[in-house]
Amino acid sequence: MKQTTRAPRAALDLLVFALLLSTFAPLRAAQTSRTARPTRSRADSRRGAEPAPAWWKRAVFYEIYPRSFQDSDGDGVGDLDGITSRLEYLARLGVDAVWITPFYPSPQVDFGYDVSDYEAVDPQFGTLADFDRLIKEAHRRKIKVVIDFVLNHTSDQHPFFKESRSSRENPKRDWYIWRDPRPDGSRPNNWSSSFGPVAWTLDEQTGQFYYHYFYPQQPELNWRNPEVERRMFETVRFWLRRGADGFRLDAVNYLFEDPRLRDNPVLPELRPGTTTGEHLQEKKYNRDLPEVQDVMVRLRAFNDRVNPASVLIGEAYVPKWEELMRYYGPADNGVHLPFNFFLIMEPARTHLDANVFRSVVEASEKALRGRWTTYVLSNHDNPRHYDRYGDGAHNDLIAKLAATMLLTLRGSPFLYYGEEIGMVTTEPKTIDEVRDPVGRRYWPANKGRDGERTPMQWDASPNAGFTRGTPWLPVPPSARAKNVGAQEDDPNSLLNFYRQLIALRRRAPALLDGEYASLGEDPKLFAYWRKSRTQTMVVALNMSGEARTLNLGGGGLSASDFRVALSSRPRKRGQLTDGELALAPFEAVILEASGR
Ligand code: GLC
Ligand code: MG
Repeated sequence: MKQTTRAPRAALDLLVFALLLSTFAPLRAAQTSRTARPTRSRADSRRGAEPAPAWWKRAVFYEIYPRSFQDSDGDGVGDLDGITSRLEYLARLGVDAVWITPFYPSPQVDFGYDVSDYEAVDPQFGTLADFDRLIKEAHRRKIKVVIDFVLNHTSDQHPFFKESRSSRENPKRDWYIWRDPRPDGSRPNNWSSSFGPVAWTLDEQTGQFYYHYFYPQQPELNWRNPEVERRMFETVRFWLRRGADGFRLDAVNYLFEDPRLRDNPVLPELRPGTTTGEHLQEKKYNRDLPEVQDVMVRLRAFNDRVNPASVLIGEAYVPKWEELMRYYGPADNGVHLPFNFFLIMEPARTHLDANVFRSVVEASEKALRGRWTTYVLSNHDNPRHYDRYGDGAHNDLIAKLAATMLLTLRGSPFLYYGEEIGMVTTEPKTIDEVRDPVGRRYWPANKGRDGERTPMQWDASPNAGFTRGTPWLPVPPSARAKNVGAQEDDPNSLLNFYRQLIALRRRAPALLDGEYASLGEDPKLFAYWRKSRTQTMVVALNMSGEARTLNLGGGGLSASDFRVALSSRPRKRGQLTDGELALAPFEAVILEASGR
């Protein structure tokens, strides 16, 4: 990964930071559109008479995997009523918004990401009336509700697809990607499926193949057909009218395919878990085609017409920042928040390394040029960061360090349920236990995503308070010691640390929307400034098992101007006395400059 050059000393950093502040602000104001203007804190906006920033720029988001959060009726599967019953917990944690992954009617092959009706609730999860109640109760607690919009594909059991596959002449035939076999009877091209092996399935009855980047039960919609777009956009209206506050757009970078269906270049690497044949591919002709951006712009316009406060969050794992930037739209008229997954991708994915994080964050800042981003460390598709970064001996301390970073970088943080209590990735022990089909196909090299989807751990009872029935995935043995109940009363628990962090963030203009600048270049210590017009904060994250020191002198501030606002290890609050900040192994500290 390319390292950006940095000034060698803290004093110089401060100077650079001051320069950045003075040159950036006007530049950004000129570059960004009305909707994406530079953010200012509430205190700042009162003074400068700026309009308040959009809610989602201030929000801490919390992802809920509804199957696994809370079961209310004893069938072993979480549901909407279960979520409603835990809103008080979420309010107390301090989150501003939840994102709930799909709860629509579905055969559950991909656990809800195979939708068979876009405008209803799967009976497993409840009813539309339950959804309405969830919205009402969430809004009563000032919690926004973002829902998943699976627009790239439907279930093969969706009436659209059933019609489409019924005959070549059916009016909905063109709603999906159908192609004749090649003359030798083989599939139309070499494209592989994300879940393996190939992305084409032959429909015997009509003699054509249909395309599915994901499971065969997830046929891809044909977004070149304007009727598809029109119908799918109606789903947005449906849920906004019911009170949803926005959408997380599933797998949006796969909406379009090359019209000529050219073969993808084949890479030398084999898919993990295979020995022959299954080579990885460069997804040159079925990912991130430019047409995607046109749909995003039209979707944004449609969204804004129905409810301009509704947020669009795009899921697109792309290798480069330049590709991700396109999702904002040519005039900031696309997706509000394209997910920034660079902390979940290599090298930051597995390396708790100050140089790595510093360079990823700096690359983000550079690419964004003032636009708003997200930060995320865990979700339902990736092993939890608790064990990705844990060294086995300091896991809780490292979890506090990761949380401090996530909640203090310049962007909207996304938490994944259970990370606030340090839930661990618990993979199935045998192939028979595996629920995620991909884990059965490529066992044991890829055990699927069950490991990060285990039931939420509420208390020390046998099913961790998740269900009174049999949980759909086993409750991890770790739940006995690690659960909300046990951490509730422990002032030093991870849960209470998250609460303090979120509470601090909520009242700190510098953390909410201040500028960012790296501080120093210690390879073991990731430190940065966050600075608004009214407040200056320093975040110092010791990513090593050794003691570190951070020099705070220079730039018109001295160490005694700082007080400790929060730390992950017990330490005296209040003014710093020495010229520098001493950090214990893996310690995270947030400092606030006083008198400014
Ligand atoms: C997204 C979802 C993932 C799902 C896939 C297909 O990546 O996050 O869980 O399997 O899309 O819908
Ligand atoms: Mg597609």
